[in-house]
Amino acid sequence: MMILGALLLASSAAALPVGRSISNTLAGILNGKNKLTFDSDGNFKVVSFSDMHTGERNGDGTWAAWGPANDAMTQIVHATVLDNEKPNYVVFNGDMMTGENVFAFNATNYLDIVYAPTIARNIPFSSTHGNHDNANNINHQEEIEYEQAHYSALSYTRSDVGPKPYGSGNYCRWVPVYAKSSDWVPAAVMWFFDSRSFVSGTGDGPGPVPAAANYYWVDPNTVPNYIKLQRLLMATLWWKVPPALVFVHIPVQKAQVLASLPSEGDHDDEPDPSTQGFLNNTYTGLDLPFWDEIIALNGWKDGGNVLAITSGHDHGESWCARSTNSSGIPICFNGHSGYGGYVTTHSVVRNGRVFELNLADLAASTPTVKTWNSYEDSTTNDTVVLGPEYMAQYN
Ligand SMILES: *[C@@H]1O[C@H](CO)[C@@H](O)[C@H](O)[C@H]1NC(C)=O
Ligand SMILES: *[C@@H]1O[C@H](CO)[C@@H](O)[C@H](O)[C@H]1NC(C)=O
Ligand SMILES: *[C@@H]1O[C@H](CO)[C@@H](O)[C@H](O)[C@H]1NC(C)=O
Ligand SMILES: *[C@@H]1O[C@H](CO)[C@@H](O)[C@H](O)[C@H]1NC(C)=O
Repeated sequence: MMILGALLLASSAAALPVGRSISNTLAGILNGKNKLTFDSDGNFKVVSFSDMHTGERNGDGTWAAWGPANDAMTQIVHATVLDNEKPNYVVFNGDMMTGENVFAFNATNYLDIVYAPTIARNIPFSSTHGNHDNANNINHQEEIEYEQAHYSALSYTRSDVGPKPYGSGNYCRWVPVYAKSSDWVPAAVMWFFDSRSFVSGTGDGPGPVPAAANYYWVDPNTVPNYIKLQRLLMATLWWKVPPALVFVHIPVQKAQVLASLPSEGDHDDEPDPSTQGFLNNTYTGLDLPFWDEIIALNGWKDGGNVLAITSGHDHGESWCARSTNSSGIPICFNGHSGYGGYVTTHSVVRNGRVFELNLADLAASTPTVKTWNSYEDSTTNDTVVLGPEYMAQYN
């Protein structure tokens, strides 16, 4: 903030009032947070975990020992992947808990279970929230407020815009990563969005879904304008929109057509119709205002500025693909990092997805990022470099 103000002051007096309002609204300038920086080798490694599904009970709502046992296993998965990868940052990409199973009085304590291995290693993190994080006894807003109150030292999670309480989660907050701490233009930016939705029931089967939660896509009323404003402010202030990593729990609808392509990773659980924009199995198109702003963030078709948009939700999917149908934007899946939630043939061995950002790769005329899956059995696979060369034949 100080550096920014000084530079604007130096540039021209006339620009100052504009500069003030810009620095006040550029959402990624974090008050009181440590600036995230690349390491001395020019790398910044992110591990993304999704679908932890802690807090499960029997289908009839009765307590079951396997719930806590699964949660302990999930912590071992995270600890193993973190020790093998030693990331600079962790992203929890939704479905922290199986919200329809938890009690109101201690629901947020499941976040303590989810975050513990990351906290123990002192790694900064962000979270997005999933459809199972909105339920009768828990919602996205409560999870965000708990995380901010209890983990303020390491959590970069914010709630900038979006309808409360079901859709405010991690809306559009973005987190800058700088080449070095004295820089004022970030080398990369991480963006986080809230794909809403709600899972009803407390063990007795499904109940009513609140009208304000019955959406399966990023809010089209607030979020697209917000992305656009932030993008334009970046271009004005920094003369560039930094390469972006995007995280959202429910995959974008373009993931459906990309699933048919041969790509690196597992395809147990193709996202059909469980992508953004569907309601009662009917596609509404209401996800498109968000997707159109992701395309603009990419620098439009084939712009290459969005390194990947990564989702969980479909536990048996762990691939990355891109084609003309996604405007050249890589769409990735996280696989399954939790022992809670359903399991598919190839998701038995749990994993996180790793992104290794490198300053030289980001500075190329079209930026690239290396990504792979890292497993609880200490193996890795599906290593690819996302960029113009990846799946070039479909682009
Ligand atoms: C929440 O309370 C239930 C019922 O007392 C208990 O079984 C469960 O272990 C508690 N969960 C957490 C995360 O503290
Ligand atoms: C990658 O390795 C994991 C763990 O061994 C395995 O479950 C998964 O199916 C593998 N994926 C592919 C595409 O071979
Ligand atoms: C979706 O289905 C539910 C349950 O059948 C129904 O209550 C709701 O009105 C439907 N919503 C729309 C928009 O059709
Ligand atoms: C993508 O779109 C093109 C038309 O633009 C089409 O020919 C192709 O089959 C689509 N599917 C995939 C998986 O790329």
